[in-house]
Amino acid sequence: MPITFESGCFHLKTAHTSYVFELAGGKYPVHLYWGPSVRAVHDTMIRRLTRFTEETFSLHEQSLDSLPLECPVFGGSDLRPGMIHLIHSDGTHALDLVYESHEILPGKPDIPGMPSALGDGAETLIITLRDRLSNISADLLYTIWPDLDVLARRIRIRNDGGNTAFIEQAMSVSVDFEACDLDLLTLSGAWAREREPSRRPLYPGIQGVSTERGASSHQTSPFMVLLSHDTTESSGNAYGFALCYSGSFSASVNVDQFGMARASMGINPFNFRWKLTPGTVFDTPDAYLVFSDHGLGEMSRRYHTFIHRCITRGTFALASRPLLINNWEATYFDFNEEKLLSLARCAKEVGIDLFVLDDGWFGKRNTDHCSLGDWVDDLGKLPHGLRHLSDSIHELGLKFGLWVEPEMISPDSDLYRAHPDWCIHVEGRERLESRFQLVLDLTRKEVRDYIVTVITDALIRGNVDYVKWDMNRNISMWGAALPPDQQQEMGHRYILGLYDIMTRITGRFPHVLFESCAGGGGRFDLGILCLMPQTWCSDDTDAWMRCRIESSTSLLFPPSAMGAHVSAVPNHQTGRLTPLATRAAVAMCGTFGYELDLQKLPPEELESIREINKRVHEWQRILFYGDFYRLKNPYESNEAAWMSVRSDRREAIVTHVYAQAFPQQKPRLLRLAGLDPDLDYTDTETGKVYGGDELMQRGYPLSVAWNDYMAQQIHLIAI
Ligand code: DGJ
Repeated sequence: MPITFESGCFHLKTAHTSYVFELAGGKYPVHLYWGPSVRAVHDTMIRRLTRFTEETFSLHEQSLDSLPLECPVFGGSDLRPGMIHLIHSDGTHALDLVYESHEILPGKPDIPGMPSALGDGAETLIITLRDRLSNISADLLYTIWPDLDVLARRIRIRNDGGNTAFIEQAMSVSVDFEACDLDLLTLSGAWAREREPSRRPLYPGIQGVSTERGASSHQTSPFMVLLSHDTTESSGNAYGFALCYSGSFSASVNVDQFGMARASMGINPFNFRWKLTPGTVFDTPDAYLVFSDHGLGEMSRRYHTFIHRCITRGTFALASRPLLINNWEATYFDFNEEKLLSLARCAKEVGIDLFVLDDGWFGKRNTDHCSLGDWVDDLGKLPHGLRHLSDSIHELGLKFGLWVEPEMISPDSDLYRAHPDWCIHVEGRERLESRFQLVLDLTRKEVRDYIVTVITDALIRGNVDYVKWDMNRNISMWGAALPPDQQQEMGHRYILGLYDIMTRITGRFPHVLFESCAGGGGRFDLGILCLMPQTWCSDDTDAWMRCRIESSTSLLFPPSAMGAHVSAVPNHQTGRLTPLATRAAVAMCGTFGYELDLQKLPPEELESIREINKRVHEWQRILFYGDFYRLKNPYESNEAAWMSVRSDRREAIVTHVYAQAFPQQKPRLLRLAGLDPDLDYTDTETGKVYGGDELMQRGYPLSVAWNDYMAQQIHLIAI
């Protein structure tokens, strides 16, 4: 039994980890241990806090303030930042959630209206706590996948009382660490510079990351790791927390007066308040916890396997993906049918599988100033319509993909002229545009139904094989079609609305590959990944910037989830010149494609592209689904390197990029990882044979980089 309850203790045991907590006095779940697996919970681990059984429990004499709690709440004797904060109908805030019952179920219950991991092979513990006076209960849900070493946590608050309450805060997870001698790693960034890692030691007080933008955002990610100070890629403890949510979130650690560290994560309580009327339930999203005692690398590989098995689903889970060409950087808005077809013909000649028509095919969209919402073919650019273009592309032997941005509306659009009230706005206040567009109010059912209808029509009309679902601005001037006492539900209701339309549209087209995008990687999270198996990593396609972005993105996400393309030089975002081979090697760390005008390339580069494409097809399964090892950190050095190893360790692909070349370099050795030390490997390029142990201990002798931004890819096959 992976989940057991003995001597008042819950033991959640996976292949390599244990998570243990007791019911102190039969009342309060108190955390005991999270780390490498222990055989059993011995008496010595249990605190036996019997004082909490006394009926005369007094706030002054017996405080929860010094205990590591599984479900800390505001309004009781724990005075630290909690997980749940409620306001009752009489305006009071007190809460005392006490154990009532528990059950252990096979699998994992779905979360109504929200995406979450599949429960194959999982087991779930549900503990019900109840506040006696208000009759409000909280279910703590713990799901473990024993063979994947993942623990999911979330809560469900139910109002079984007769009065309305307001939820001010409901975090998905809270874990108390007895000591704060840890580092905190989070990801922050900006447009075209997403997910830069930042690691610092914990200090007293609150620290962490959050977003109030209504999206998981470019600026930070719903992910954090607590690490021992000496943890590296391959050694030391790492405790990962990843939220399955696409809206405003908070991920924080509070170090208290006793030096205990409380890590919590969930929907951002700022600008959030949920009206919980009698008989209703509120569910938080899932948070996925992974422990590794072999460093960040092992933590990432556990997340990658979990994502492949339980997050991505349907036709494209564990499948190869088409090599695509996207016309955005080749043409921007300036295209017509002939231009697209000649690009497509060229793409076919060099072995590309899928042609993607990006922004500008609908309404009168010759710039980004208009037409979002009017999903009708622009007959000026496509005189025979979308279907004719799609048919012509299919006739060339290519698949056809289409860009859409369903959540948005341009003030200059027929949709806005017909429904000026359909956008997020406040009557009497200016409607603040960003990229000349407004956000549709997805809390409204008629808006969601309209989107589903028009996007479905466009996808049928275009007979599409692939969709790029974009989103290019965050919410401002918050105001939705909700009653005054529910306005602060808007952020979460927007995301529920988004999941609703995404579920309906993706469900209608199970054989279409969906890629999510938000002005690059502005909404790269596990929530959307449950619905769309890949996400455009960043609008920054510069090879060196991508070394950084892809490397830090891989902390949580596998290459199969990261959209990565080869673009033209000078790069449109940084102006940098990098060799084609380097751009391709770096894009192979993701779902591979091109974003340039192939017709402008010299014949020798087209020939190279043909070879590159053959290589991508050949290597894709290992690159996507192999075990991923980061070898050189581009945030800390002039080099980036990573490798993917087939699960039987008989084949591996290594990528190394050296940024700025220096004269008089010494030959360098790159120490590899994840190989079988007892096997010999042939380097398929040179035919040389190396021992697996030699490659991991001594290293692979790299070629000297004579120019800036040289890449080397090494393909090793076991003899
Ligand atoms: C932002 C995306 O990230 C780009 O790739 C492109 O699709 C543009 N939007 C189109 O407007």
